[in-house]
Amino acid sequence: MEGISEWDGRVAVVTGGASGIGRGISDALTQAGATVVVADRDVAALERVRADGYTGIETDVTDAKSVEDLATQVFADYGRVDLLVNNAGVGPKGLTVDLTLEDWRWVLEVNLMGVIHGIHAFLPRLIANPDGAWIVNTASMSRFFTPPGYAPYVASKAAVEGLSLTLAGELAAAKHDVGVTVLHPGAVRTNIKDSLRNRPAGAGGALVDFDIAQKIQDEDLWIEPAEAGAIVLRAIAAGDPYAFTHPGMVGDVEASFSAVRATMTKYA
Ligand SMILES: NC(=O)c1ccc[n+]([C@@H]2O[C@H](COP(=O)([O-])OP(=O)(O)OC[C@H]3O[C@@H](n4cnc5c(N)ncnc54)[C@H](O)[C@@H]3O)[C@@H](O)[C@H]2O)c1
Repeated sequence: MEGISEWDGRVAVVTGGASGIGRGISDALTQAGATVVVADRDVAALERVRADGYTGIETDVTDAKSVEDLATQVFADYGRVDLLVNNAGVGPKGLTVDLTLEDWRWVLEVNLMGVIHGIHAFLPRLIANPDGAWIVNTASMSRFFTPPGYAPYVASKAAVEGLSLTLAGELAAAKHDVGVTVLHPGAVRTNIKDSLRNRPAGAGGALVDFDIAQKIQDEDLWIEPAEAGAIVLRAIAAGDPYAFTHPGMVGDVEASFSAVRATMTKYA
């Protein structure tokens, strides 16, 4: 489907836009001429993006009403939305055997239900946009690698990919002028290593923060949020269903599929 490459006069909403990849996407969109509304639960970080000229709306993506209120306010203030970026996410670590159900629920509620809440609140009005619209959902390369300690995270990101591709197919079949891109970042320098700051107070559990930089020490494997933002805009312009930040990992993805290939026809 034809993508969007002209951003003058267009309005974007970026969840989790007050930090990291969301901020990188917001900055790339602003530089391209879009008006960007940053939606985030971190009040202090929102103040900082407001100081940089953004409209910041306090939003908790785990709360359907909060996201519905966001949509209502943005359409009241701007009359349109051309791009919804469902990007807010958390990435703490904990072995499955140790996790509480509250641990599972928190990660899934931010990373998966947050995306679903965004789609549910915005989709009818995106479809009604006479100039066409786009949705970007942030997943992760970890969806292909299933690193130990990240079961809720990987589950959420695999689900985000699945729902994104399914939605794209439905929209195309109905000939709606709304495209969907699923973003699979590799290692990006952000504040995700401090995800527990976003966990509601008082909720105990086995999840802990972990800095992936301890594991991925090769400097060449890390990129900055601005680079991720530029890649997202290129993917939307091309109308692509996927945006990957780390093309060098293609061999690893192929290797992960080799296990599928090896067993797919084995028992039939
Ligand atoms: N950094 C990486 O290497 C990497 C790799 C793959 C995927 N990702 C994904 O990128 C996305 C952005 O993460 P990041 O790395 O920029 O981390 P980050 O911590 O810098 O930014 C995440 C943002 O989401 C916000 N947020 C968290 N919970 C929220 C909630 N309930 N409601 C509203 N906002 C909330 C935070 O306040 C923060 O501003 C996430 O979905 C993450 O899973 C990151």
